[in-house]
Amino acid sequence: MCGIIGYVGARPCTNLLYEGLRKLEYRGYDSAGVSVLSGGRIEVVRAVGNMDSLERELKGNGYSGARLGLGHTRWATHGRPSTENAHPHSDCTGEISIVLNGIIENYVQLRESLSADGHEFTSETDAEVVAHLIEKHYDGDLLEAVRLTYGDISGHFAFCAIHSGHPELIAGARKECPLLIGVGEGEAFVASAIPAFLSETREVMVIGDEELFRITPEGAEVMDLQKNVLDREQTRVHWDVDAAEKGGFETFMRKEIYEQPDSLADTIAGRLPDSGGVVLDEMLIGDDVLADIDKVYIVACGTSYHAGMVGRYVLENWANVAVELDIASEFRYREPVLSPSTLVVGISQSGETADTLAAMRQARKLGAKVLAITNIMGSQATRDADGIIYTRAGLEIGVAATKSHIAQIAAIHLLALYLAQVRGTLTAAQIGAIAAELKEIPELLRRYLKHESATHEIAKRYYQQPFFLFLGRGVGLPVCLEGALKLKEISYIPTEAYAAGEMKHGPIALLDKGSPVVVVATDGHVYDKVVSNIEEVRARQAAVIAVATEGNEGIAAYSDDVMFVPRTSEMLSPLISVVPLQLLAYHIAQLKGCNVDQPRNLAKTVTVE
Ligand code: F6R
Repeated sequence: MCGIIGYVGARPCTNLLYEGLRKLEYRGYDSAGVSVLSGGRIEVVRAVGNMDSLERELKGNGYSGARLGLGHTRWATHGRPSTENAHPHSDCTGEISIVLNGIIENYVQLRESLSADGHEFTSETDAEVVAHLIEKHYDGDLLEAVRLTYGDISGHFAFCAIHSGHPELIAGARKECPLLIGVGEGEAFVASAIPAFLSETREVMVIGDEELFRITPEGAEVMDLQKNVLDREQTRVHWDVDAAEKGGFETFMRKEIYEQPDSLADTIAGRLPDSGGVVLDEMLIGDDVLADIDKVYIVACGTSYHAGMVGRYVLENWANVAVELDIASEFRYREPVLSPSTLVVGISQSGETADTLAAMRQARKLGAKVLAITNIMGSQATRDADGIIYTRAGLEIGVAATKSHIAQIAAIHLLALYLAQVRGTLTAAQIGAIAAELKEIPELLRRYLKHESATHEIAKRYYQQPFFLFLGRGVGLPVCLEGALKLKEISYIPTEAYAAGEMKHGPIALLDKGSPVVVVATDGHVYDKVVSNIEEVRARQAAVIAVATEGNEGIAAYSDDVMFVPRTSEMLSPLISVVPLQLLAYHIAQLKGCNVDQPRNLAKTVTVE
């Protein structure tokens, strides 16, 4: 996440940058900052916290002569929220200033080699290497220094740079992270999202993936990586400001569903290096301790609990360790049997859920090691844990969790691979093969979402039904539980979710002619069993809506409707198979006219028991 903005032109820019950042605050608010060229020097103002803190810092410090500048609002990934870690970052001379959104995967090596060459770092961030690399490459041509820097770094990112010797130039590049140019009369903007400059100009130029750009008061140029100028037209956007904040999507929830490929890519970035193995910088629980644990105990609530349930299958399968799982509000009032060789994993998007925090504290009191999986740097969960795995889903605004759930499942996969590594239950080659497949999934998801339209048609056929049953087996069980939760919380339709094999012990009595039954029937070792359960449902004349693996043409014979998802290996399949269920819930709720971003009676963070 993070939001970035730049301005070059004839107007005083400090306030333009500040107002633009206000519009980008939804992308993160751990800290914010601006750098402006004033009196021939680059002046940097940064503050921890949201834009109100930056506003206080800027008071009486507006650099009214500045006509060139950058701004940044941060969602912390590398380095805690602090003034030193806030952007913009500078080089050693203070002549160069940069802002970055994304992750530099090879920053540790780059930092070591730049330090060996005498560069002095002032932050813990990955982004600062970009300022020092530009300094290293700069020979009077800022764009060329940006181009060479791009060649040095790996990961996914968008960055912008200014130099005190170039008062009318911003140069930068993007790879996979968003960056757009706004072209005005005698001025230009660059930003992570259109709302940042929408009140100033509606003329937009897109910077494509793996492209460079330069903006000056005379206009904008987009280039390929050899600096050949590309023929790029400007387009006029007609969005209103509200739609713009949602990136053109009609709701935050839909936008967040579509952000899931990035959420997954960010969460695994740098943690599965091409050189092999699994790297978890914030694990902090020693490998010797992890090698000796005899039980993993997962505690969480709601959607996070469903991610934890995926963990049960994956941890048993890859790390050969016993796994228990409980809802945090139950765990905290039981007498769980824990010991120093139990690893308790608390999963919480917000890191502030009261029941999950209480369960983690209780586990620690009972002598267990506690690991937090959370999306929020510095949250209470991180303070109550011995080790952390951060999900990197960015800010989630829709109350119904979507992109944070995908990131949680990915974090679980990382944990299982890490334990498999230290316990020797998978070979390096096996870990490498799983890592390679995991890295392919963001692209599979992107393609899937681009061509996804089946769920809307299915939603239209069923949205007036009074009840839905969801069934799944194996890793399909947590997926169906999550699909049922999504549907009930945003559409208010009663749902029941069950292990498919358990249906005949009771819930089958609910079925009637035409009752919709959503079955997670992706390929895997229990697929044939799931098909038998589908037959049981069809014998009661219920309507089967299956989630199945692409290429499984046979499923049509057993189902009324099918939502096909790309093929993955079984343990990774929840990363994809949950997405059609999120979309199904979404479309049904929309058709019913519900407020999907703010469903009734719910809150994003549940800080009470
Ligand atoms: C459902 C949802 C909730 C949360 C639950 C736990 O869409 O978002 O069920 O998953 O309240 O919240 P965290 O993960 O913040 O502990």
